[in-house]
Amino acid sequence: MKVVTIGGGSSYTPEFVEGLINRYEELPVKELWLVDIEEGKEKLEIVGHLAKRMVEKANVPMTIYLTLDRQKALKGADFVTTQMRVGQLDARILDERLPLKYGMIGQETNGAGGLFKGLRTIPVLLDIADEMNQLCPDAWLINFTNPAGMVTEALLRYGRHDKVIGVCNLPVNIRMTIAKLLNVEEERVHIDFAGLNHMVYGIDVFVDGVSVLDHVLELMSCPEKQMSMRNIAPLPWDADFIRSLGVIPCPYHRYYYKKDEILEKELEEYETGVTRAEVVQKLEGELFELYKDEELKVKPPQLEQRGGAYYSDAACNLMSSIFNDRGDIQTLNVRNDSAIKDLPSESAVEVNCVVTKSGPKPITVGHLPVAINGLIQQIKSFERIAAEAAVTGSYEKALLAMTINPLITSDIKAKSLLNDMLEAHKKYLPQF
Ligand code: G6P
Ligand code: MN
Ligand code: MN
Repeated sequence: MKVVTIGGGSSYTPEFVEGLINRYEELPVKELWLVDIEEGKEKLEIVGHLAKRMVEKANVPMTIYLTLDRQKALKGADFVTTQMRVGQLDARILDERLPLKYGMIGQETNGAGGLFKGLRTIPVLLDIADEMNQLCPDAWLINFTNPAGMVTEALLRYGRHDKVIGVCNLPVNIRMTIAKLLNVEEERVHIDFAGLNHMVYGIDVFVDGVSVLDHVLELMSCPEKQMSMRNIAPLPWDADFIRSLGVIPCPYHRYYYKKDEILEKELEEYETGVTRAEVVQKLEGELFELYKDEELKVKPPQLEQRGGAYYSDAACNLMSSIFNDRGDIQTLNVRNDSAIKDLPSESAVEVNCVVTKSGPKPITVGHLPVAINGLIQQIKSFERIAAEAAVTGSYEKALLAMTINPLITSDIKAKSLLNDMLEAHKKYLPQF
């Protein structure tokens, strides 16, 4: 089996390689091709050599190839994973900082930052999909590059390769956290997830098939029992709000239901020069110093300070279930078909799917609870218009996407911010 990872020079690569090593028996990946671009060459060399040491130490017969030649890598692939960051962390710093200048939340997958990350990323992913269609038409494209929801939407609507799945570690993390909260083994916990990427809700929670949703909502009403992620401030939810919402929100919902508190926190970070992107940039520097050490032959624990911890579980379990025709349930970003009745069938949704050798099939959700339907509709409209802007380079569509986003507070500020961001990112926005 041949797996290709685009953005192979990422600091996350050891996480993925560890996942493959641990599953070698069930998922015998003989070739792992790590692909990057000229700008990422040095990182690719460093992390690629760590990957080789990891494989050697674990004594698995997997060959690691490092290359800048994407097309050569794609030829004959079985799975292609994408984890690149167009414009690297410097672009993320701009995504987080520029909105704050206008008093609006700055985040890499939400609001104006998410829009621009999408505008930079979607054309590149569409090119990859095109190449896959030529060079490995049967391979699955498994995308982690954010904003994964908007990117999947674009790939489904405009891409030339149908076998596309968007992946996020959030559902896996939520299940782990809830199992801990309930003090039961993870395998006994089942959550009916529905929504969009970074906008997903737990509609119901079961232990051994019995619903415990109300109990979980009660537990979540205690601030010390509420989950967050490394990258999101763990600001406490209001207990009455959580009860009245009646479903489990994800950590990213804080950007929407706690706008004021998040903004206040981010403005502090802006002043002190430590936005999340800057924290991550420092951490990355430290990680790459560690990776250079020839004695290091495993994934260092420091990587768990990143928000993407455990993403390899999501990715590797997905590949394994397709390869082994397992038929288990995983939460993935796929074409809705008719799973969520309130959303278009051709749109991307994040829902539970049954995964077999023919890929993921979404499980029917039905209608969304009225409490969450409105916000989901708004974000889906935003994603669709943003994807159209990314493909066409239309200024008007970009302005529309920006202005209707719930984190944007004014049409006039939206326009100034849009102009600023178009200028700041122009190197990575050839379509505009
Ligand atoms: C979560 C999200 C990922 C995101 C990450 C950011 O894990 O699911 O999509 O990339 O957080 O973490 P970072 O350490 O880069 O801030
Ligand atoms: Mn994610
Ligand atoms: Mn179910």
